[in-house]
Amino acid sequence: MSSKKIFPMNNIAGQITVPGDKSITHRAILLSAIASGCSEITNYANGKDCLSTLQLVQDLGVNVEQSSEQLRIYGVGKYGLKNPLNALDCGNSGTTMRLAMGLLSGANITCKLVGDSSLSTRPMMRVARPLQQMGAQIILKNAQTAPVSILEQQKLEGICYRMPIASAQVKSAILLAGLYAQTPTTIIESIITRNHTETLFSMFGVTCTHSNNQINLPITQVLKATNIIIPGDFSSAAFWLVAGLIIEKSSLNLMQVGLNPTRTGLLQILQLMGANIEIEMTHQHPEPVGNIYVRTSKLNNITIPAHLISLAIDEFPILFVAAAYAKGTTEIRGLAELRVKETDRISAMVNNLTALGVKIVELDDGVIIEGGAIRGGTVDSFGDHRIAMAMCIAGLVANSPVTITNIDVVNISYPNFFKTLDRLKHEC
Ligand code: S3P
Repeated sequence: MSSKKIFPMNNIAGQITVPGDKSITHRAILLSAIASGCSEITNYANGKDCLSTLQLVQDLGVNVEQSSEQLRIYGVGKYGLKNPLNALDCGNSGTTMRLAMGLLSGANITCKLVGDSSLSTRPMMRVARPLQQMGAQIILKNAQTAPVSILEQQKLEGICYRMPIASAQVKSAILLAGLYAQTPTTIIESIITRNHTETLFSMFGVTCTHSNNQINLPITQVLKATNIIIPGDFSSAAFWLVAGLIIEKSSLNLMQVGLNPTRTGLLQILQLMGANIEIEMTHQHPEPVGNIYVRTSKLNNITIPAHLISLAIDEFPILFVAAAYAKGTTEIRGLAELRVKETDRISAMVNNLTALGVKIVELDDGVIIEGGAIRGGTVDSFGDHRIAMAMCIAGLVANSPVTITNIDVVNISYPNFFKTLDRLKHEC
């Protein structure tokens, strides 16, 4: 396990293209696998998480041609997947495991899904319960976690499910199982979450309607192969967005980033904090895409509107860094879900920011952060890619170097993160 020493920067400037969106890539791979025909997925996310999904469909008998830019996936149709020879390894990826549970529930497949030590502690009953209600045969370890065993089942019933928690992974697992159901599926979401499954459904010719808080999926026949150009991942852009705001005399242009409003809560939060950000929308395929222009700004802490929390769910580690640097004290609540991410992100960020001299108090479901200076020191990634990158950005504005241990984990979502950082250093 390696570590990285980050030195403070006086300014940061340049143009950045971030990797393709991880959430969209997972879904594009899974849907291509059960479509009829060959789908081309360009600018796919090449971090370890999406490679776990890619390996998973290959282990289920799907042929894939892979270049650095593009995937060609030869779909086998809804009932064409084959029983895998070995356990399907989802690595660190919660999205792979939870979405695969939904996809495989009615696909007439018997298999076992396993994950690394972090994934093996994450809650899976939230997904298994509604799938079991649809008729899936799923067995969890201690009725809670992975390994997840799925037994052959071809007949699922639709469900009308009121989401008890805000989770796009749970919603998506139900929708994927709904593709195999003999009756329609309805999901009622009281809190909006990312809607990539719904938008990709329409690209594969699946009708899925959304009105008010209700998503309706009729009985589905076939999915047709399609071509998708994946936009840049807003959650990867988020690190540079905050860097450009809090490092003095900075100016960053983030190009071709996915700007689906169910993902961009952080933009709205930062704008409420006083951020100087300009957006230029460029096109709409498969979802809104555009360029983000960021300039150094004086940030003030604010009360974060509750409705923005699920729309910024992966961005809290980097938002905590922005809040630690901003003027004033901020209390953020409603973050209980952060405790069951790749690590307990509340506790990891409290530990790390405290080690860098930030006054931060841990609450059950959030934090209180007092803005001020960040000092140098040593922190840990806690095996979580977003904690690792958030602490790198903290290191760029600290008053002396910050060392982050167990740093390789950035490869989960952003293998070129340090290449980009080095290039920006040389350009400044
Ligand atoms: C994701 C949904 C979110 C998010 C995760 C990716 C997805 O998880 O945190 O990184 O692609 O559906 P939850 O559904 O657990 O909120």
